[in-house]
Amino acid sequence: MNIILLGPPGAGKGTQASKLEDERGMVQLSTGDMLRAAVATKTPVGLQAKEVMERGDLVSDEIVTGILSDRLDEDDVKGGFILDGYPRTEAQAHSLDALLAEKGMPLDHVIELVVDEDALVERITGRFTCANCGEGYHDTFKQPRVEGVCDACGSTSFKRRPDDNAETVRTRMQEYRTKTAPIIPHYEPKGLVRRVDGMADIEGVSDAIAAILDQG
Ligand code: AP5
Ligand code: MG
Repeated sequence: MNIILLGPPGAGKGTQASKLEDERGMVQLSTGDMLRAAVATKTPVGLQAKEVMERGDLVSDEIVTGILSDRLDEDDVKGGFILDGYPRTEAQAHSLDALLAEKGMPLDHVIELVVDEDALVERITGRFTCANCGEGYHDTFKQPRVEGVCDACGSTSFKRRPDDNAETVRTRMQEYRTKTAPIIPHYEPKGLVRRVDGMADIEGVSDAIAAILDQG
């Protein structure tokens, strides 16, 4: 099964994609993670993307679509994938249609995480991840079981994203409202859009997504 998880910054796309990987063996395709990896290793794409991401603006459609297209050619995605953070513009939605048609891959659901924007700044500014394995945490909503130790790998080193500050978050939200939310009508006539209450707790959101996926 191939799905898109759609929602503003902090809606829980990464959290839910990672649970779907663990629970269903689907592959998370996060363009944000791919870009952050390119920034960390200072590839030409990473060097171009770094400042754009730190401002909270969108990286160019050409760059992001190129990265995603290459990733879709890898074998592991054939058992099912979760798009997390792509598509984000009308142009990307059209490119995705073309890519999936060319590669013979169906799209089963577009799941929108519906959230109250006021809660998102708290979610984002409290977020941190394991510096070793990338497991995601939150100061209030998802603390490690043992303070300072990653549940998944035992590392004691954690990090925070440079774009997770209140000022950049406002730009990211604005980008979502003006460029990403308008792509939802692209999927409505295809009958693919499903809505989930993203304000439920993490398990509640997972259960709602599972109910959609279990229907086929
Ligand atoms: P990206 O990495 O995609 O960031 P984003 O869309 O801003 O989304 P986030 O990762 O901030 O939020 P999330 O929904 O994954 O939330 P999470 O699960 O972590 O993109 C970053 C940048 O890269 C962009 O700004 C852009 O520059 C560039 N980029 C990426 N893709 C691009 C594209 N296609 N085109 C152009 N540019 C692109 O949850 C947040 C926190 O809340 C966590 O701490 C979590 O523990 C907690 N939490 C999650 N769910 C719940 C819940 N139900 N209740 C309580 N807490 C919760
Ligand atoms: Mg994310």
